[in-house]
Amino acid sequence: MSAHPTSNTQHPTLVSGIQPTGRLHIGNYLGALKNFVDLQNSGKYECYFFIADLHSLTEEFDPKEKPKQILELTADYIALGLNPSASLGASPKKSTIFLQSLIPAHSELAWILNTLTPMGELSRMTQFRDKAGILNEEEISKPEKWDKERELLPKTHQVVQSQMKAVQKIHTYWANVGLFDYPVLMAADILLYGAQFVPVGNDQDQHLELTRTLARKFNAKFPARRSPGEGGGKTFMEPKPLHTETPRVMSLKNPGNKMSKSDPASCLFLDDSPTEIQAKIKTAVTDSGSEIKYDPKNKAAVSNLLKIYSSLADKPIEKLEKEFSGKTYSEFKTELAEVIANHFADYRTKKKTLLAKPHTIAAILKSGSQKAGTKAEKKISEVKKKIGITI
Ligand code: ADP
Ligand code: TRP
Repeated sequence: MSAHPTSNTQHPTLVSGIQPTGRLHIGNYLGALKNFVDLQNSGKYECYFFIADLHSLTEEFDPKEKPKQILELTADYIALGLNPSASLGASPKKSTIFLQSLIPAHSELAWILNTLTPMGELSRMTQFRDKAGILNEEEISKPEKWDKERELLPKTHQVVQSQMKAVQKIHTYWANVGLFDYPVLMAADILLYGAQFVPVGNDQDQHLELTRTLARKFNAKFPARRSPGEGGGKTFMEPKPLHTETPRVMSLKNPGNKMSKSDPASCLFLDDSPTEIQAKIKTAVTDSGSEIKYDPKNKAAVSNLLKIYSSLADKPIEKLEKEFSGKTYSEFKTELAEVIANHFADYRTKKKTLLAKPHTIAAILKSGSQKAGTKAEKKISEVKKKIGITI
């Protein structure tokens, strides 16, 4: 084996995860996964990438499908370029790939951090509010936010508004506690590994902010060395998000919304066939006018497509604008579809080959989880000592 640093003192640590909830789309790729691979390949970080299966239980799921979703996402990671690491510590151009639920320290630390987290902080989290279907007071008073009730307006404005408030209460009542507590488990995922950086799309920034707040709170509340040899000082690092040039890829159908698998028609999935890609790009909305120009305010749809093109082809947007000057939307779309299909051709083949060997993928996850588990165990022991739950 080559001599490489095995200590995280030489390489900053980065951690990120994705929920195994279905197929990956180009937003997941350009916002997160492409960065995972680039950061790994830079050789500058100790990389931990995991499958956030515990987080995925917060949404409706079929237990029969879950193992398949876990293995598929692991195959996605590898097919897109993550190299499972063969040794503990910072391996150049390799990553530790693991399964969250195989490491009990994630749930243990989440519980401990729960005791430091005000419910008020969690109830303002946008992802929770979106997923639970909760609008804030200001949104409730804006009729344009009421999709279904719109046709009843304006006559019954008052009535609808009070009904909307009642509906909100019902949504809040039934939202599961896991969905509410999701950001605390995410904080535990990150803090356990001493991550300085977390590559994610910008929809996760609020969660990262909470993670930093919890790290600070814990460090301030439990600073002291209780007895010699127990370690004093700061227990947790405060992590920063790392974004790509495309931290928010927009929907193909409605460029005002982010591309999300909750609206499959708006997504380009990474394993879509070239024919599917052509069809989706062809029917993607465009803006008025015919110029292929980057102008997110006035031409949101074509600007989104230009960003996708630019990131995948690694060409500056200005260059693309020149290349497509005088050309039609249709010509631009045909080329873009080709660029996308070609970019993921290798991935599609690799993923199929990997999925034909599910035992190999499971073995990779288990061995990665053993390695990550060793690091996580150390941190959770330190935490338990700091808060005094050791005998
Ligand atoms: P989804 O929103 O489709 O359910 P996830 O929540 O599983 O996707 O996101 C996995 C990762 O992909 C996260 O880091 C998230 O920030 C990123 N991501 C998701 N959607 C987008 C998007 N439209 N643009 C950029 N990044 C995204
Ligand atoms: N919350 C992330 C998402 O919705 C997934 C996730 C869970 C995560 N734990 C994490 C991302 C820790 C980064 C670090 O996509």
